[in-house]
Amino acid sequence: MLNIVKLTVVYPDNTKAVDKFTLHAGKEESVALAGENGAGKTTLMLAITGVLPIAEGSVQVDGITLEKKNLNDIRARTGLVFQNPDDQLFTASVYDDIAFGPRNYGLPEKQVAERVNQTLEELGITRLLGRSALKLSGGEKRLAAIAAVLSMNPSVLLFDEPTAFLDLKARRNLIRLLNKMPQTKLIASHDLLFLEEVCGRAVLMKNGTVFTEGAPADLFHDKKLMEDCGLEAI
Ligand SMILES: Nc1ncnc2c1ncn2[C@@H]1O[C@H](COP(=O)(O)OP(=O)(O)OP(=O)(O)O)[C@@H](O)[C@H]1O
Ligand SMILES: [Mg+2]
Repeated sequence: MLNIVKLTVVYPDNTKAVDKFTLHAGKEESVALAGENGAGKTTLMLAITGVLPIAEGSVQVDGITLEKKNLNDIRARTGLVFQNPDDQLFTASVYDDIAFGPRNYGLPEKQVAERVNQTLEELGITRLLGRSALKLSGGEKRLAAIAAVLSMNPSVLLFDEPTAFLDLKARRNLIRLLNKMPQTKLIASHDLLFLEEVCGRAVLMKNGTVFTEGAPADLFHDKKLMEDCGLEAI
């Protein structure tokens, strides 16, 4: 469960990138976040996971309010797949990157290995085991970054442009996987057809705040509405 109330995020240079943004995403709900370049999607996601400080408003994950004192708890419950996979992968091996979350929980190494292998299999990237994350292709990096988050099994999943760099087969596989996963999801993407397939609800974001929300199929095909939001209808 994710509850965001009037969230405002201001960068040190005074750019107000998120401005009184409110969203409730229930258990098992998958919410699309669409908005033009610079609308504030990435900033919102970084603030939800406590990477960026909140200027005003609040974020709750599973009923726990995001504050300094429970930052670790919030981070264990939320998994963010970064827009840039290089921000996610930081060890020299794909295995260690995916094992990082489960090891952090203190799982025994045998269970960690099981979790890593299962995640790789689900994403169809067992071939990447043993490779260095630094030497992967763009799409391989994206899939490894997704695996690093899924292996943590968080209750709220945040995806920032998950289909960027993916080929059609990997994209299709990701759609299948996301539709199987019961967690609360917030997915930011410019790939509206993808969002339509994996989200029951969509939020259009403009100038850091909610422009409108509704069923993805209703919003994304509305030429006038999408144009007003700085987007292009499909
Ligand atoms: N470190 C920063 N300092 C100041 N302003 C920033 C910083 N990072 C982003 N911004 C600004 O904040 C606003 C929101 O940026 P953000 O990256 O959240 O947009 P986005 O919706 O994710 O865009 P995109 O679709 O291009 O990924 C933009 O105006 C951007 O220029
Ligand atoms: Mg972004």
